[in-house]
This record gives sequence, structure tokens and C-alpha cells, in this order.
Amino acid sequence: MGAQRGRETTPQHVAFVMDGNGRWATQRGLPRLSGHREGIGNVSRIAEALVACGVRYMSIYMFSTENWKRPGEEVDGIFELLVEWLGSTAAGLKDNGVAFRHLGRREPLPLSMLRSLDSICGEAPAAVSLVLGLAINYGGRAEIVDALRTLLAGPMQPGEIDEAAVSAALYTADMPAPDLLVRPGGEQRLSNFMLWQVAYTELYFSQVLWPDFDELELERALSAYRERHRRFGGL
Ligand code: FPP
Repeated sequence: MGAQRGRETTPQHVAFVMDGNGRWATQRGLPRLSGHREGIGNVSRIAEALVACGVRYMSIYMFSTENWKRPGEEVDGIFELLVEWLGSTAAGLKDNGVAFRHLGRREPLPLSMLRSLDSICGEAPAAVSLVLGLAINYGGRAEIVDALRTLLAGPMQPGEIDEAAVSAALYTADMPAPDLLVRPGGEQRLSNFMLWQVAYTELYFSQVLWPDFDELELERALSAYRERHRRFGGL
């Protein structure tokens, strides 16, 4: 976690909550899945814009441990879109220097999804321009539970466990904490995203629905970030 203080410039890691796809479609009289298709298509636009700005890490909340509560038809449709995207657009991003991480629990993701995730996350490109964390079947509380299980199964004594050990046991082990978290779609909550990591993250909420969140909206978020003063508890 960065120890820098004061006025910020370019964030190292920007996290996004993919929110508003369904409403984007409903507003146009389209099925919700059309919104999800549009939404997943927007990930590469924002990833490319971040690389152009010099941001090194991006993470995106795509499916939570709570999203299984949605109708089965929508869940199946989302997974189909995701598997298709992982094999096409994401593979293209990887060819252009994007390294992928899966952030989330593997069970009970379907085998087709796990295979696609393993394929895209394995073997990073030679020159990495961006590390992109895909939060799929991700829950912040589940992540902390999984980290506790990892630590309890390991060699450390309780007294040896410190914040660095917990951070290293999270799905985001080799990623810095987000400097900026962006939630489009009008809601102002975390919905169980990166609960440990956002301790000192700057939060930015936008009314714009995710499929409409473009380079201009990103610039608005980055410019709001530049106005923030991070103190990390200091003066
Ligand atoms: C959090 O809000 C948002 C997410 C976990 C992302 C949800 C996005 C999808 C399920 C669609 C993704 C589509 C593709 C194709 C990847 P929430 O709505 O889960 O929680 P809330 O009820 O607290 O707002």
C-alpha cells in the first residue's frame, strides 16, 4: 500500500464496479443481456484508456458471490458472454501486453469459465502494460475468509500474522491496493468489493451507466482524483 501523501497525480491502480448494464438495456427497450454485452465490450475501451494515462493496474467487478441470486437465465447469459469475451477480446488485449488475474473463488464456477480463466491468466505477456484483475465470483468477505483459511493451513503462528501476511493471502496478492475506486450507475456503496483493499482508496461515484462510461467520464474521475488530498491518517 502506497505511503505517499498529499495531492495525487496518476493512480497506480483503478478499480471499477461494472454497474448499470441492465438499466442501460431497459432504457432502450432491450433485454438485460444486451446491456451486459455492451458493458463487457466497454472493458477494453477503459483498459486501453488507462494504459494511455499510465495506469498500471485495473480491476473490475464483474460477478459477485451474491449475484448467483439473479435469475438463472441471466447468470447463464452473463457466463456465456464472459467465456466468449475471455477467448476473443481479452485474448487480443493479452497480445497487446495486458496480464490477467482472476480475483474470486473458483467454486462453483462452471468448467468452461475456469478453463477460459486459466488460459487467459496463465503465462503473462513478455512486456506487461497493464495488470487487469477480473473479479468473477468475487466477494470481499469470502476473500477474507479464504485468506484466513490459507493462513490457518500455513506455517505461521498467530502472533506472526500481520497486515502484510493477510494482504499476501488475498486474491490480489501481487497487486497494490486500488488508489481510486469508480462506481458508475448511481449507487454509492461498495457491494462487498475489495473490503480489505479499499481502506485508504479514494471513492468516485458517477450517475453514468457503465456501458456509457467512456474516456471522457474516465478523465472526469481521474481529474477528481487529482484534486484529492490523501493523508493515510497523517496530517
Ligand atoms: C455490484 O453491484 C456490481 C457487480 C458485482 C457487478 C455486477 C455485474 C454483472 C452481474 C453483469 C456483468 C456482465 C458481464 C457480461 C460480465 P450489485 O448489483 O451486485 O450489488 P447491489 O445490489 O448492492 O447494487
